[in-house]
Amino acid sequence: MKIAIGCDHAGLALKRVLIECLNAEGHEVHDFGTDSEDAVDYPDFVFPVAEAVVRGEADRGIFPCGSGLGPCIAANKVRGISAVTCHDVFSAKSSRRDNNANFLTMGQRVIGSGAAVEVLKAWLHEPFSGIERHQRRNDAIRAREQAEDAR
Ligand code: RB5
Repeated sequence: MKIAIGCDHAGLALKRVLIECLNAEGHEVHDFGTDSEDAVDYPDFVFPVAEAVVRGEADRGIFPCGSGLGPCIAANKVRGISAVTCHDVFSAKSSRRDNNANFLTMGQRVIGSGAAVEVLKAWLHEPFSGIERHQRRNDAIRAREQAEDAR
C-alpha cells in the first residue's frame, strides 16, 4: 500500500517506530514530517497527509501525536477522510471493517510502541466488510458533507 504519514513533535518517536514497521511490511511510505522535537502545530502537518489521501497519492494516512485526538479532528475536516483514533486492536479492526476508515491517529503519550505496532498492523490488514448497512451509514456521512458544501 501507499502510506502517507506525518506527526507533530509529540509523536515523532512513535512515527519512527511505525515507519520501521511499514517498511518491514513492504509498504511505500511518504513521510510529510515533522522531523524534529521542536514544537509545531499539528494542523500544518495533518492537512498535507490528508490531502495526499484524498488526491489518491496515498491509500491511507497515519498520524501519531501526543494524544491522537487533535489530528483526528483536523483530518476529519478534509472531504473524503474518515479519521479514527485507535489505541486497541478491536477499535482498529472495527474502524476498517465497519467504517472504512482511511486515516489513523495514535497518541505516543497513550500507547507503548509494541502495542501501537499491533494496532497499526490490525488497521492495515483488516478490509472494509462492504456490508450494506455499513455502506449505507458511510454514504449518509458523505451525503451530509455534500449537503454542507452546497450551503
Ligand atoms: C502536543 O503537545 C499535543 O497537544 C498534540 O500532540 C496532540 O496531543 C493534540 O491533540
